[in-house]
Amino acid sequence: MSIKVDQVVAIVPAAGVGSRMKADRPKQYLIIHGKTILEHTVAKLLSHPQVECVVIAVDDSDPYFSDLSISQNSRVIRVSGGKERADSVLSALDFLNEQQKSGWVMVHDAARPCLSSADIDKLIDSARSHPVGAILAAPVRDTMKRGMNGMIKQTVERADLWHALTPQMFRSDDLYTALSEALEQEVEITDEASALEWKGLSPALVIGCSDNFKITQPEDLALAEFYLSKNKE
Ligand code: CTP
Ligand code: MG
Repeated sequence: MSIKVDQVVAIVPAAGVGSRMKADRPKQYLIIHGKTILEHTVAKLLSHPQVECVVIAVDDSDPYFSDLSISQNSRVIRVSGGKERADSVLSALDFLNEQQKSGWVMVHDAARPCLSSADIDKLIDSARSHPVGAILAAPVRDTMKRGMNGMIKQTVERADLWHALTPQMFRSDDLYTALSEALEQEVEITDEASALEWKGLSPALVIGCSDNFKITQPEDLALAEFYLSKNKE
């Protein structure tokens, strides 16, 4: 069975521990405006008309997920998380393979709740019209330096530098092949695009809104709170 032609399956890796956040629980379970960050993120994906369902990778020993109402949603599927983010994404792709479900997938970090529907639209349009797929990204604004031992070695040309964001959208079969081969060969994979790059492919860069930042450190919470209240207006 394939994912319906005009639909996309969203994959949300949510099995991290959030060590840089230094909170009493993984950051995806911190509350903003009465809901966990993970619930904000999943609600954003589920409300998009082209998202068929959301496959969430959760650690097997996670005590939080089953208490959330999204765990009872028929369009939400829980799979086991892995050691690294790429293992968690591969676990979701394994599930889709078992279901013999193939088509477009969109991988989105649990810790990016400020994604806009307009950016999802832009990504879907670009990925579908590109031979490989596409990622949301933001052009670098600051002058960039390469450092060495705490000192500047050189200024790096900024014009071609981008911040890679998520979602990142690819065909499930292509992503599965690239990720599983890269992991098998112990190639270091950061985002999904890097697995396809390793296979010699060049995904498209789609300019996304910088509101869609990844909550990483304690000071990021206030900013996410601000953007999420803006979205409600
Ligand atoms: N993630 C995952 N499985 C892992 C590690 C990370 O599913 N083994 C997820 C996180 O839950 C998060 C996303 O990947 O939604 C991006 O990772 P990151 O921001 O690095 O989150 P953490 O790894 O949880 O944070 P930290 O690196 O600070 O520990
Ligand atoms: Mg991490």
